[in-house]
Amino acid sequence: MPMSPTRDLTGSLLLGGVRLSDVVLAAGTPTYVYDLDGIAGQARSLRSALPAGPNAHLIAYSIKANAAGPIVRALAGEGCGADVVSGAELRVALACGITPDRIVYSGVAKQDDELDFAVACGDRGIGAVQIESIEEIARVEARARAAGRRARIGIRVNPNIDLGDATHAHISTGHDDAKFGVRKIDLDRAVQLADGSPWLELTGMTTHVGSKLPTVEPYLEAARILFRTVRRFREAGELRALTFVNTGGGFSVDYGGGPVPRPADFARAVVAEQRAQGLGDLALYVEPGRALVAPFGVLLARVIQPKVTGSARFLMIDAGMNDLIRPALYQARHRIVPLEDPPGRDGAAESVWHVVGPVCESSDDFGKHTLPRDPPASVAILDAGAYGFTMASKYNGRQLPAEVFVRGGVMAGRTERESAETWARKRAMAGR
Ligand code: LLP
Repeated sequence: MPMSPTRDLTGSLLLGGVRLSDVVLAAGTPTYVYDLDGIAGQARSLRSALPAGPNAHLIAYSIKANAAGPIVRALAGEGCGADVVSGAELRVALACGITPDRIVYSGVAKQDDELDFAVACGDRGIGAVQIESIEEIARVEARARAAGRRARIGIRVNPNIDLGDATHAHISTGHDDAKFGVRKIDLDRAVQLADGSPWLELTGMTTHVGSKLPTVEPYLEAARILFRTVRRFREAGELRALTFVNTGGGFSVDYGGGPVPRPADFARAVVAEQRAQGLGDLALYVEPGRALVAPFGVLLARVIQPKVTGSARFLMIDAGMNDLIRPALYQARHRIVPLEDPPGRDGAAESVWHVVGPVCESSDDFGKHTLPRDPPASVAILDAGAYGFTMASKYNGRQLPAEVFVRGGVMAGRTERESAETWARKRAMAGR
């Protein structure tokens, strides 16, 4: 799988075959551009490593990574389901053609109206409301009883794995101090409550250890704990309605720091473990977000001006932490490259630029990058397809970035940027 983007012979940067300088002309900046064919191809390569056969697996795309309709539809077209964390994300999944059966719903503080909607979807409600606490079981049961329908649920097992420095503390979720999942000490009670309720059908056992896992090992370890738990309950005659085990998301992408395992590598490891533990009769669900979309999205920005003072060389661009918060929030590094890089430029014509955005915070900082000494007109921030637009804000009176969707080598769709006038009018009129 070639990692996007690429350059043509004149040094123009292309994504999905579209020249990104043309996108700047058509849509302005800051603008996210996504390669829908690349995203679909990534889902196919993951699928090839999962158990074959009807309902033997489900790739539940974690919509929080990127909820744009064309992306969700492209993944639905590859047979993916969805992992959602709100009633709004659930509505996006349904609107993009994902059937309720293929949707799982995680999250520690689901609201009653969100649960009601999940239980009311389709013939039997969504595939599973994934329970994150003992207390939540009674809440879902009450909503199911009120609706007069059985709710399908999963129990999210907190595997208590300390990821240490393997990933950022903000996205390490599978340890006992985290708010997520049911701790081991509460599992017997959770299964008893769920299995004992006439209003609940315990169809799934699930886990998620964290995001951006640099190696397969912690993912496999969480899966092993989940599978052992399932075996233990089954041996005691419980979990009779179980149809799936869900090992969660968290697959990494190479943000430029060096190769990481591919989604299929994570999948192969857990498939082998599932078989080894004698659970081959259950469907295997995975919940990737980042790995399906991050490498296939870029954020385009124009260079506003340099500021060279003393030994500092700032390059100010028109995208900021409001458009892509990952560097500010997780000290994440995204590669930044010029849109035009004609062949023949020698290394002496480069310098290290400290790339910063326009937002009035020192954390609005994309780090130091080697770029042409004569600042390029525009740059692309790479691997920005996941947790970019979905985490964007309008801080500092800025507008949400535009988005362009590329398919079959052409711009197949786009969203417009809200105007500064509209933003200003709405704020000025607030509460009136
Ligand atoms: N399943 C559950 C239950 C999750 O909590 C998450 C992510 C996923 C699946 C998908 O994880 P992924 O495959 O994308 O790693 N904003 C952060 C990432 C937050 C992840 C939250 N949960 C970032 O930009 O790195």
